[in-house]
Amino acid sequence: MNIDVIFSANEVTKDRVEGKIVVVIDVLRATSVMLTAMNNGAVEIRPFKEINKLISYTKDLKGILRCGERNGTKIVGFDLGNSPLEYKSEIVHGKIICMTTSNGTNALVNSSYGKKIFIGSFFNLDLLCKKINEIGEDLVIVCAGTNGEFSLDDSLCAGEIVKRLEYRTLSDSARAMYMIASIPGTLKDKLKETKHYNFLKELGEVKDLENCFSVDSQNIILEYRDGIIKKYEE
Ligand code: MLT
Repeated sequence: MNIDVIFSANEVTKDRVEGKIVVVIDVLRATSVMLTAMNNGAVEIRPFKEINKLISYTKDLKGILRCGERNGTKIVGFDLGNSPLEYKSEIVHGKIICMTTSNGTNALVNSSYGKKIFIGSFFNLDLLCKKINEIGEDLVIVCAGTNGEFSLDDSLCAGEIVKRLEYRTLSDSARAMYMIASIPGTLKDKLKETKHYNFLKELGEVKDLENCFSVDSQNIILEYRDGIIKKYEE
């Protein structure tokens, strides 16, 4: 397989993802939330780019949770924000989650032209990479980034994915991700000076900064298809 990496939601174009296997990553925190919610029994997740669209879509729906953030903080009137730790089984089990975040849901919706679109984070690296190796087709890893900019948390996760795959060629961006993920040191050490890490720390979301780096803590594969995220079925 050939592997490419895109650094932010804004850089996703139809040309780069069409016909390819795509993995969308927003470690801090949208894809970590999605995996946790589904792992704890949510039925499905519907991502939205815009708050207004989500609100009008859910106006008359029952059994749903309105979830997401702007500027890292829960949207006023919504049920849950964007910390994976909020998505406990007693809250999300059996529920449909409608979600909008600043970058992660944009990255997903922008990737809709992909042939198969998976959700990635540090939580599900092992199972996800086994599945991608088994599929063996060209892959594009889409990092959500932060407001159009490169973000090291997503990129380190992309690099870990590249390291675990049986690739034939790497684009320069994929090779760069491989190289930064291969530098010795803990994830925390690599990330503690970064912008989004410190932004969440200032918001008091310190527990997320431990939790979102729990490598291989979940045995789950999610697929985004026809506007809905569900557990992957072959
Ligand atoms: C996003 O989608 O931009 C992030 O998940 C923001 C956050 O950390 O809450």
